[in-house]
Amino acid sequence: MAFWNRRKSIDALHQASDGPRLKATLSWPHLLALGVGAIVGTGILTLIGVGAGLAGPAVMISFALAGLVCACAALAYAELSTMMPQAGSAYAYSYAVLGEVIAWVVGWSLILEYSLVVSAVAVGWSGYAVGFLTGLGIDLPTALTVGPHVAGGVVNLPAVAIIGLVTGLLLLGTRESATLNAVLVVIKVAALIGFVAIALPAFDAANFTPFMPNGFGSPSLPFAEAITGQPVVQTGVIAAAAIIFFAFYGFDAISTAAEETKKPERDLAIGIVGSMVICTALYLVVAAAAIGARPVASFAASPEPLALILREMGQGTAAQWIAASAVIALPTVLLAFLFGQSRIFLGMARDGLLPTSLAKISSRGVPAVVTVFTAIVVAALAGVMRLDELASLANAGTLAAFAAVGVCLIVLRLRDPGRERKFRAPLFWLVGAITVVGCLVFFFSLQARTQLYFLYWNIGGLVIYLLWSAKNARLAKHPEQAG
Ligand code: ALA
Repeated sequence: MAFWNRRKSIDALHQASDGPRLKATLSWPHLLALGVGAIVGTGILTLIGVGAGLAGPAVMISFALAGLVCACAALAYAELSTMMPQAGSAYAYSYAVLGEVIAWVVGWSLILEYSLVVSAVAVGWSGYAVGFLTGLGIDLPTALTVGPHVAGGVVNLPAVAIIGLVTGLLLLGTRESATLNAVLVVIKVAALIGFVAIALPAFDAANFTPFMPNGFGSPSLPFAEAITGQPVVQTGVIAAAAIIFFAFYGFDAISTAAEETKKPERDLAIGIVGSMVICTALYLVVAAAAIGARPVASFAASPEPLALILREMGQGTAAQWIAASAVIALPTVLLAFLFGQSRIFLGMARDGLLPTSLAKISSRGVPAVVTVFTAIVVAALAGVMRLDELASLANAGTLAAFAAVGVCLIVLRLRDPGRERKFRAPLFWLVGAITVVGCLVFFFSLQARTQLYFLYWNIGGLVIYLLWSAKNARLAKHPEQAG
């Protein structure tokens, strides 16, 4: 069978998982905690400044738009994950619904996403950690706390160090524990609520005018810069939404828990929609409090905007608290994504698309080679790159994967309407369309350079696919498993 026709059979996916079943112990409060725990991170703590710099106070609209698109993508994820519970990722759904080539592009994009989220969150962590240490009277030299893009900067050593630490934990076999996750969720949410409580009394409506200084903005093509030779700088509400999108993902954590959910139909809906609603509401309130307290220009470029706002308000102790919460709670986001990256890699290696030798599992149950290799690359990038560039490229990968999930939702409903669905996304046409169109609009609203890097990444990926993976794919050797 030609590689462009190869598709996995959903039934074979089910048989492959006929091993021990995980016990269904989770209910919707667990899912809510899982979702909020994986979602709240560098996006709201740091990228809020970048977003506000692009859109002005209208970043509030950006948050709402990004939340809407993510909620729809999450509903699509929920339906597909309950149909193929063991698969648990956009790569696997695409393999069964859209075929091997698209699955490769999605998997390759997910590797980019998961890796660069780790770099981006580490840089966000570093901003708050350095601010926290300064608050304690410990001043680290600029050369060692920021990359070369800032005057006097050489390498962001704290970002490199936190990736090293989290990698060490992962190699020891550490998984996120539900209890620790719950504690950290409380810390993160309490820190944000605390911020709102302190910042809101200083609310000045004058900070909201002009509300939309850079307009709404519109998507641009990836080659715009290359063709015209002029730098294309995206600004406005939609460009901010494309970057703020970072703040909302991580909810795949909920859909991968589908198998362990007591009543998927009810619990997944509440878990996914609930965590999206909670995060969107929380983010909007935090954004309103931040902008109301200080003019956007004063915190847009800060590596720790929320702490900076509190400090400028004379609330030094509160600033230290929020920095401490970030320092404690952000590493779990790193752990989740570094773990997720190796899981995607494993899935692709099991399908014969990547070399199994790289995905060898250590005695502690960790794919050590790929984990260490990934860690070295993402630490190097975190050491020298800008947060907004890292986050944009991570978003590009995620947007591609989410768009594919939206397409999978619609295609599978039309192709196989009778198949059992433990969770059915409501109004699937609308949910699927908002996901696909929203992701495409956001993708083309990223900086032209980011779109171009993403293209290079996938051209490189497709070369590997054609030279190696297409021949070594399991389906090439076992066509009986195709759908
Ligand atoms: N949503 C996660 C964060 O904002 C990736 O850190």
